[in-house]
Amino acid sequence: MAENWTDVAALSCVPDMCVVSVSIAGKEIALYEVNGDIFATDNLCTHGAGRMSDGFLEGDEIECPLHQGRFNVCTGKAMCAPLTTHLQTYPVQIRDQRIWINLAR
Ligand code: FES
Repeated sequence: MAENWTDVAALSCVPDMCVVSVSIAGKEIALYEVNGDIFATDNLCTHGAGRMSDGFLEGDEIECPLHQGRFNVCTGKAMCAPLTTHLQTYPVQIRDQRIWINLAR
């Protein structure tokens, strides 16, 4: 397996339809559970200091707690104003009930 994959959390740390943050190699990453799948993005909003892990996850969209910008957590796409920049996403693998992400994107 490529060396860029990092074990970031137990699968059980991300409850159904929830978002949690982890800190990996100096980066804050948000992990989301959406209908049985795990997704990973930067935790910091592209608009300001809002943290996705403090936001509201509804379906596959996370609402930033500061100005209510919404991102698609699967693609990172900025869905509405005031957002103008997409959120960085990271590939995810599940191995032995652990969440691995690839930060080398
Ligand atoms: S800081 Fe996230 S929408 Fe403004």
